[in-house]
Amino acid sequence: MRYAEITGWGKCMPPATLTNDDLSTIMDTSDEWIFSRTGMKERRISHVNADELAYVAAARAIAAAGLEVNDIDGILFGSMTPTTLMPNCSSYVQKRLGNKVAACMDLNSACCSFLYAISTATSLIQAGVMNKVVVIGAEKLSWFLDWTNRNVSVLFGDGAGAVVLEATSEPVGVLSSKLGCYGDMRDTLATDNFGSGANRGLDSYAHISWEFDGQEIFKRATRGMVLATQGALADANVDVEEVDWVIPHQANRRIIEAVAKRMNIDMDRVAITVDRYANTSAATIPVTLTEILEQKRIQPYDKIVMPAFGAGLTWGAAYLRWGARVEPIAEAAVELPPCDKTALELIEPLLEINRRHKVVVSA
Ligand SMILES: CC(C)(COP(=O)(O)OP(=O)(O)OC[C@H]1O[C@@H](n2cnc3c(N)ncnc32)[C@H](O)[C@@H]1OP(=O)(O)O)[C@@H](O)C(=O)NCCC(=O)NCCS
Repeated sequence: MRYAEITGWGKCMPPATLTNDDLSTIMDTSDEWIFSRTGMKERRISHVNADELAYVAAARAIAAAGLEVNDIDGILFGSMTPTTLMPNCSSYVQKRLGNKVAACMDLNSACCSFLYAISTATSLIQAGVMNKVVVIGAEKLSWFLDWTNRNVSVLFGDGAGAVVLEATSEPVGVLSSKLGCYGDMRDTLATDNFGSGANRGLDSYAHISWEFDGQEIFKRATRGMVLATQGALADANVDVEEVDWVIPHQANRRIIEAVAKRMNIDMDRVAITVDRYANTSAATIPVTLTEILEQKRIQPYDKIVMPAFGAGLTWGAAYLRWGARVEPIAEAAVELPPCDKTALELIEPLLEINRRHKVVVSA
């Protein structure tokens, strides 16, 4: 029987940090409101595109696995903010890595993109189609946001995380997945005027607006993540008490706490990064996984569950067993180009476009 062990991990968080206090200088909000409702303190704003963040995270994951770039025969890029739709962004990562042999696939299930991608990659390895696969979650949500909309813009950030999966005969890696979608709820979290349904006469960025029903999403997210976690654990024949780590999608600390409470899981077994990075959509799980590995909190053969939800409303969970190695084999000498702007300076032109559009619409 073939399995798909996680042998490498890496993240790439852009350096410019946007705090809640920074946000309160451009909109009617406060650190107290944001932190008490979400657990968020700050988020990162990227000066490069999502595909470049993805490349750096992928290079770091490949080094941690101790592999050469041409050992990789598959690249899966999970994102809802791809830099380009054609060509896809996985081909950008392949080119930047100097890889000549990988199949390249982009996958969008919103915040569940990494979860869907790691389940897909595991299945491709188990089927014998691929042997060594990089799975990436990367987003540049700052580009996508309406910075005049305080309901939405305070919740998100930019970043990327990646893992390397390798075929093995040892029963480790993702051992069960439950994936689903509440399609009837797809309008509770949606943007219009972006994609081939957009009016081509419009400047699509200026006309992006967000449909967002936070409280409905909150309820469905909690229910979907609990059901998916229970399903994935049941399929793997694992009791919730045996779980060493929950690495959940980081949309809101209160959602994570509600899921943990319903599952009877102590918060000290739940990994949290939402305070520092906010919701980076597809990137939250690989970034958080990388961070707790860097902090040496994962032990060999730990039992881990990763629940997520996102626009669609997609939901899911994967249960995985860690392998023997918890240390990286090597480090990649890869960095982002330096950033000479503050986070507020980076979003200023975007805010200007949103403000100008608002004036036109309300005139
Ligand atoms: C968005 C969310 C944090 C709001 O929390 P909440 O407890 O439902 O919020 P409340 O109902 O207490 O507050 C809503 C009020 O705060 C106001 N408000 C919204 N954003 C605000 C902000 N950034 N600063 C200050 N006030 C804000 C609203 O205008 C509303 O005011 P009103 O009651 O006068 O109309 C929460 O619902 C959530 O996390 N939802 C899911 C998040 C999500 O979908 N993420 C993406 C999917 S992965």
